[in-house]
This record gives sequence, structure tokens and C-alpha cells, in this order.
Amino acid sequence: MEETLVLVVGAGPAGLGIAACLTKKSIPYILLEKEDCCASLWKKRAYDRCHLHLAKEFCSLPFKPHAPQANKYMGKDDFIEYIDDYVLDFDIRPRYYHSVESASFDEATGKWLVKARDILVKATKVFVASFLVVATGENGKSYIPDISGLKDYKGDVMHSSEYKCGREFQDKDVLVVGCGNSGMEISYDLCNSGAKTSIVIRNPVHVVAREMIFVGMHLLKYIPVSTVDAIVTFASKLKYGNLSNYEIHRPNEGPFFLKATKGRSPVLDVGTVAKIQSGDIKVLQGISRINKTKVIFEDDVELAFDAIIFATGFKSTACDWLKDYDYILNNNGFPKNRFPNHWKGKNKLYCAGLSRMGIQGASKDAIVITNDIEMVVRAMIAP
Ligand SMILES: Cc1cc2nc3c(=O)[nH]c(=O)nc-3n(C[C@H](O)[C@H](O)[C@H](O)COP(=O)(O)OP(=O)(O)OC[C@H]3O[C@@H](n4cnc5c(N)ncnc54)[C@H](O)[C@@H]3O)c2cc1C
Ligand SMILES: *[C@@H]1O[C@H](CO)[C@@H](O)[C@H](O)[C@H]1NC(C)=O
Ligand SMILES: *[C@@H]1O[C@H](CO)[C@@H](O)[C@H](O)[C@H]1NC(C)=O
Repeated sequence: MEETLVLVVGAGPAGLGIAACLTKKSIPYILLEKEDCCASLWKKRAYDRCHLHLAKEFCSLPFKPHAPQANKYMGKDDFIEYIDDYVLDFDIRPRYYHSVESASFDEATGKWLVKARDILVKATKVFVASFLVVATGENGKSYIPDISGLKDYKGDVMHSSEYKCGREFQDKDVLVVGCGNSGMEISYDLCNSGAKTSIVIRNPVHVVAREMIFVGMHLLKYIPVSTVDAIVTFASKLKYGNLSNYEIHRPNEGPFFLKATKGRSPVLDVGTVAKIQSGDIKVLQGISRINKTKVIFEDDVELAFDAIIFATGFKSTACDWLKDYDYILNNNGFPKNRFPNHWKGKNKLYCAGLSRMGIQGASKDAIVITNDIEMVVRAMIAP
């Protein structure tokens, strides 16, 4: 058994931001990470051509702005390099191969009891801490919908987190399910790699250019969301025209409003729309069922595919290990309270990086959480 003041679970950008802030304040902590590296989402589960969707000024961690010479929209490798430098700069030493399996609050001692599986030595270790920070991310496990016939499907099935590049799909018939940023970008990548690409677009979605979001994020500092939404929607209509002929429908609510209230991100077009308009990427209806190699769509169209790639998102895994999650999270593993009051729970429990605000959100969480911890610690020492 090992005792520390603060225990942080997860060494992604959020957990690393917390670690850096705690180091600055000389507050002792232990950071547990189940993989063999930090930022495992970026290192192991992101496709090759992935770039930061937002400009670099909105994607930095506390105390370390991106280098002036870095690309405005950083590539995956540059971002990973930034993260690795961050770990060195703040001398962060995550305990790798430590998968947290349970955490519960002990009323008697007023402390958190955390059990982690040490994957290397195949043993369970117990940690005791006054403060617990959940930083296991919004993308803990891949989600694939339960479609009738999927388990007997004869082609290849893949989740977007396993997709690297389109090479292996050249000349194949590939269906991408899901029209978020991953689905739209993977379709584009497949099409460029010579795959015969189709995409299922079922939900209304805002398609915008990333510069529109860049301008919008700056405007948000000065004018209300509804006005920014009107401007961005207008710009998008001007650029893309009426996309409803291509089964891409615009939601009634604006892009920034939807992001803030439902965590739904607009799609930042990387060239997919032009390929849809030219017919190189085919848009299809929702899937009704699968029969061996054939996919049957909601409009009764039947088509055969060699592979299906599910870009259908992720689920938070926090509730799988955090026994007392209801001090801060709902049973989906996301904060009970809306932004900006989401980060603090009962009994010195905090969560970072779960407000669907990306790296900027994780960074802000790290600052407010560690300020709060410092305040509580000071009160503990000198009441
Ligand atoms: C393809 C893709 C592109 C994205 N692009 C952007 C972007 O451009 N801009 C942006 O702001 N955001 C983007 N995001 C959002 C992304 O969620 C954040 O960038 C960021 O990675 C979130 O950091 P995090 O630390 O909260 O979570 P994660 O990066 O997911 O890190 C969580 C860590 O916790 C570890 N962990 C999980 N469970 C346990 C456990 N039980 N015990 C121990 N360790 C555990 C995981 O191994 C992981 O290393 C993107 C996401 C994806 C999938
Ligand atoms: C867009 O096109 C669809 C289908 O052609 C049509 O029904 C709709 O009225 C158009 N919308 C606008 C705003 O022009
Ligand atoms: C699957 O297709 C075969 C042949 O086309 C058909 O005989 C069978 O009834 C179908 N099964 C289902 C569950 O639709």
C-alpha cells in the first residue's frame, strides 16, 4: 500500500496538465496510466492523417504555448512531440502499466482507496489518497452500435480508432458509418487511397471550414453565441450551398450552441464535401440490418461491402472503475453538472477533460482543479 496526497488516473493531455500544475505548486501526486506511454489515444488510436481540428492556440496545456514555428493546425506527430516535451519539461513520471480497477471513498478515514492492476508484475496495488482526479478521457472505449446481423457479417469490421490509413482498402468497397469528424475524414482518406467509398449520414450535422470555427472562437470572446452561430452558418451556406440534395442536413440549432449544450462538434471539412458533391463518395441512409456480405439500408437498398468502418464514437469508462462516481458523474461517465461547474464533486473528487471542450477544456480544468486542491491543502495545514 502506498499513500499520497493526490492520485490522478490517466496520463492523457488532461492528466498531464494536472501533473504539471501540481508540480508547479509542489503538491505531491501519483499519476497512474494503464498503457506503456502517455497520450495513448494520440499515439495508438488516431489515424495517420489526423491533425488538430482546432488552431494550435486552442490546443495547448498549462504553462507551455505551442512554438511560434509550429503549424497552425498541427499534425498528429507534432502534437505528440509537444506532449513528450511537456512530460520532460515538468519531469512528469506516470506509473505506466497501472490499470485502475476500482476507486472508492472510505468514510472512516475520509480518503480514497484506489486499486490498480500492475500489468507487468501481474499484481494488484493499493493506493490511498486525499484527493482523486479522474482523467481517463471521453474516449475510453470504442462504441459500435448493435446492428442486426453484424456478428455474421462476412467482411471486415473496424472501429475508427483502429484505422490508420487507406492503403489496405484500395479498390475495395468500403462503408463508413458515422458522419462526425472521424467518419468524414476517414471517408476522404479512403477515397484518396482508391477505395470505393460510401458513408452513412443519418443525423443532421453542421459542415464548416476550420477557418470559420477559428474566426468564430475569437468572435465568441466579444459577441453572443447566437450571433456567432448566425455568422458561421451564413458563411457555411455561402461556401457549401444547399447540401440537403446530398443527404447532409443542417441542425436547427447553431454549431457553437450545440457544442456548448450537447457536446456535439461541427464537422470541419477536409475536402470530403467536394468528393460527395462530385459523386466520388456516396452518401447512404441509415443501416437497417446486415445479411452476410450485404448491408440493407433503411430505404431498402441492398449493397455488398468488403469492409465496414464504424466511426460511431466512444464511451467514457470512468463508471467502470470509479465506484462512487455519483459524487461527480452521471451513469454515462460524464459530469453531472454543466460546464463551467462540472469539475468538482464531493469528498475531494475531481474530473478533468470530460466537459467535451477538447484540449483547451482539459487545460482549463487542470488549472481550476489544482487551484482548488491547493486551497483545500492550505486549509488542512493551517486551519
Ligand atoms: C481522432 C481524434 C481527434 C481529436 N482532435 C482533437 C483536436 O483537434 N482538438 C482537441 O481539443 N481535441 C481533440 N480530440 C479530443 C480528445 O479527446 C482530446 O484531444 C484529448 O486527447 C483528451 O485528453 P484526455 O487526457 O482527457 O483523454 P485521453 O487522451 O483519452 O487520455 C486518457 C488516458 O487515460 C488512460 N486510462 C483510461 N482508463 C484508465 C484506467 N482505468 N487506469 C489507468 N489509465 C487509464 C488512457 O490509457 C489514456 O492514456 C480528438 C479526439 C480524437 C479521438
Ligand atoms: C435545399 O434543397 C432541398 C432539396 O432540393 C429543398 O427542399 C430545400 O428547400 C432547399 N433549402 C434551401 C434553404 O434552399
Ligand atoms: C439473407 O439473404 C438470403 C439470400 O439472399 C435470404 O435467403 C435470407 O432470407 C436472408 N436472411 C435474412 C435474415 O434476411
